[in-house]
Amino acid sequence: MSDTYTLYNPTVMDHFMNPRNMGDLKDADGIGEVGAAACGDIMKISLRIKDGKIEDARFKTFGCGSAIASSSMATELIKGRTIEEAMHFTNQEVVSALGGLPPVKIHCSVLAEEALKAALEDYLHRHPELAAKAPAAEVVAA
Ligand code: FES
Repeated sequence: MSDTYTLYNPTVMDHFMNPRNMGDLKDADGIGEVGAAACGDIMKISLRIKDGKIEDARFKTFGCGSAIASSSMATELIKGRTIEEAMHFTNQEVVSALGGLPPVKIHCSVLAEEALKAALEDYLHRHPELAAKAPAAEVVAA
């Protein structure tokens, strides 16, 4: 591999080269699509939610390798979490699970947090009876 790849650790490279959960979910319960103003990259996360838990998650990312690795890792991490737990999900979990990202690529992980929270907001919008009980999503940039 060229020196370009030395910026990224093996975990990031693995999730970039072999992304998990790529694609769409048929009949998703919540869909979030966000864009990064700085670079123009776009990320979409679809969720299947059953009995208050995230049963499945998929992503489609039109963007850089760090964004693809971040969305792959984020979809892995959030499966099985409750809506409330997922509302507190942060990009720092993604960065940490990936074993770190270069400082200039941290915003790529923020995109994953934003896409997840947009999907949760979409789900709650479709289920207003639950929205009153759920904590508001708060995106906390690193
Ligand atoms: Fe835009 Fe990574 S450079 S999300």
